[in-house]
Amino acid sequence: MRFNLIPVTRNCRVLLDCRMSSLKDIRVPYDYDGNSTLNDTNFRSLNPFELFKQWMEEAVKEPNIKQPNKMVVATCDQNGRPSSRYVLLKEYDTEGYVFYSCLNSKKSNEIKANPFVALNLYWEFFHRQVRIEGKASEVTRDQTNEYFISRPKGSQISAAISPQSDPIPDRKFLEDAYSKLESEYENKDALPLPDDWSGFKVVPDYFEFWAGNTDRLHDRYVFDKRLSADAFDEKTMTKNSDGWIVYRIAP
Ligand SMILES: Cc1cc2nc3c(=O)[nH]c(=O)nc-3n(C[C@H](O)[C@H](O)[C@H](O)COP(=O)(O)O)c2cc1C
Repeated sequence: MRFNLIPVTRNCRVLLDCRMSSLKDIRVPYDYDGNSTLNDTNFRSLNPFELFKQWMEEAVKEPNIKQPNKMVVATCDQNGRPSSRYVLLKEYDTEGYVFYSCLNSKKSNEIKANPFVALNLYWEFFHRQVRIEGKASEVTRDQTNEYFISRPKGSQISAAISPQSDPIPDRKFLEDAYSKLESEYENKDALPLPDDWSGFKVVPDYFEFWAGNTDRLHDRYVFDKRLSADAFDEKTMTKNSDGWIVYRIAP
C-alpha cells in the first residue's frame, strides 16, 4: 500500500491513500483560532464591508495564500441556468466589488440580461468563505482604462486580441493575433482600451461570512438588506446601525 503525505493546512497533514484514492476519506479539520474573534455578541454590530476588508487584509498578508483576490462569479442566463467562473477582485470599497472582463463574454452577456450575480471567495488557509450577492453594473470607461493601463503590456495585448468565450479554430489563431498586435505597438508603452473590455461593480445586498469550526459546527454570519419585513424574526435577527439585518444561520 502506498501513501502520499500531502500538506493540507498550516497545522495539519493528511494521509491520502493513493491506491484507493477515495475522496470520501479526505478529512480536513476546519478549526482556526483566529475565527473565534467573531462571536454571537460582536458580529451583530459589525459592518459587512469592514469585516470583508479585515478578512481580505489578513488573507493578503498571509504568504500561504497566493491569490487572495480570486473569486468565483456566478451569473444566470435568461432561463435561470447558472454558470460560474473565477475572476480576480481588483478593487473594493464600501459600495462594492470590482472585477474586469470582456464585454462580449458569456458572463458579461448574462449580466446584461440579468444583473444579479453571486460572488464567492474562499481562503482555505483560514477556513473562511465569504458569499456576496448583489447587482452588477459597468464601471466608467475612465476607471476601466486606469486599471487596463496598469496591467503588463502582454496582458493588455491578450485582452485586446481574445474574443473571450467565442469558439476559435486553434491556439495558432491566438498566437498570430498576439504577434500582429505586439509588433503594431512595439514602440508604445500601452495599448488603447479595447471597446469590449470593462469593469463590473457588484453592489451587495447580502453577505454571508463562513468560518470553519471544529467537528463541522461551522459559524455562518449573515448581513442581509433584502429580507422582507414579514420574514424578520426578532428571536434570531437584529438590525444594525447601518441598516443590515444580521443573523446567524445553521451550518
Ligand atoms: C484564478 C483565475 C482568475 C481569473 N481572472 C479573470 C478575470 O479577472 N477576468 C476574466 O475575464 N477572466 C478571468 N479568468 C478566466 C475566467 O475564469 C473565464 O475563463 C473567462 O472570464 C471566461 O468566462 P465566461 O465564458 O464564463 O465569460 C480567471 C481564471 C482564473 C482561473
